[in-house]
Amino acid sequence: MRRFQPVERRHALRLVNHGAVIMVSTGTGSEVALMPAAWNTPLSHDPPLFGVAIGAGRSTLEIVREYGEMVINLPGKELLGAVMLSGKTSSRAVDKFKAAGLTRRPSRKLNSPGIEEARAHLECRVVRECPLGDHVLVVGEVVFADALEGTFGETWLSSPEGIHHLGGAAVCFTGERIEVR
Ligand SMILES: Cc1cc2nc3c(=O)[nH]c(=O)nc-3n(C[C@H](O)[C@H](O)[C@H](O)COP(=O)(O)O)c2cc1C
Repeated sequence: MRRFQPVERRHALRLVNHGAVIMVSTGTGSEVALMPAAWNTPLSHDPPLFGVAIGAGRSTLEIVREYGEMVINLPGKELLGAVMLSGKTSSRAVDKFKAAGLTRRPSRKLNSPGIEEARAHLECRVVRECPLGDHVLVVGEVVFADALEGTFGETWLSSPEGIHHLGGAAVCFTGERIEVR
């Protein structure tokens, strides 16, 4: 029999929480919030729904509620510094786009800007909120999406090189793309 080591309950979610980090951007003008979120998941094909668990005290949650919309940006590994920086500060105190050297990109269907330097964007209108423990699952319906030209067919054509947060300061990147026949 293989031997397994116990993992503390407070660290248990880190065993499976390896989805690529997205960055939520929301709001307009001086009231734009930006934060990385590792706790994110697709929820439905039809309609296309996407969920993000946002901590109860985050300014991003306040602004998502005010505007009823959010852009889900997919950062590649080249944006690691920007991701970690915007995960340490509050949008109440700093313009994170400026601080992280990111450019606001006008969205097609929303007033909130996306990140020009991201590899893809999902523009979402919030359709539901579900409080769960110390986070709120914010569910958005995708109303428009785009990806960097030449990178996506019906799937990513090569690895999107997303950032996977392992917890604390530890990350890894999306690996090699293969087709299983
Ligand atoms: C890699 C990474 C992943 C994170 N994932 C989440 C997450 O899924 N949900 C969440 O509420 N906070 C998450 N955080 C923490 C927030 O991004 C952080 O508290 C941020 O400063 C909140 O900004 P705000 O107060 O401007 O909303 C993450 C931070 C990092 C660095």
